[in-house]
Amino acid sequence: MKKVVAIYPGSFDPLTNGHLDLIERGSKIFDELIVAILRNSEKQPLFSLGERREMMEAMTQRWKNVGVDTFEGLMVDYAMKVKATAVLRGIRAISDYEYELQMALMNRKLAPNVETVFMMPAEAYSYLSSRLVREIAQIGGSISGLVPELVQRRLQEKIDPALKFQQSRKRKTGKKE
Ligand code: PNS
Repeated sequence: MKKVVAIYPGSFDPLTNGHLDLIERGSKIFDELIVAILRNSEKQPLFSLGERREMMEAMTQRWKNVGVDTFEGLMVDYAMKVKATAVLRGIRAISDYEYELQMALMNRKLAPNVETVFMMPAEAYSYLSSRLVREIAQIGGSISGLVPELVQRRLQEKIDPALKFQQSRKRKTGKKE
């Protein structure tokens, strides 16, 4: 029987428990699932491509049919390169739908043989996004339960030096903010 290979593309900056929830669901319905991390030259990511890959590999090694890779350029070109016939995307709320539909239809126009499959993460993660996690962590709020502990530690390591620097600058200039 034909093996169905799917890719799960995204920025994963950083990966969240919502992403892992979706990867677990995807690993159950596809024969092989490749988490494809975008090398995004436009946006300035918080974590480098290498860091995102390393965290993703550590957190997905428990699923034997899940692999991790990086890509640049068009997602459908990458999908065809790895012989994937499906693209997994998560839809959390109606607000995601418009953008996801537009992207799925454009991708279908570019590569008619690659099908987009939408899955919903657990309700507990329906409000969760990497952008909010970055924002909360950068302001010093708690992200416990939103990302794996490994990611939480890496976020703290990344953000703490910046906070320390800001605080020492404030002390030096006597600036109140
Ligand atoms: O995690 P994100 O940022 O929502 O993922 C978006 C992603 C990586 C799936 C999308 O930006 C993408 O596919 N980028 C690659 C370039 C591409 O193929 N663009 C055309 C989309 S129709």
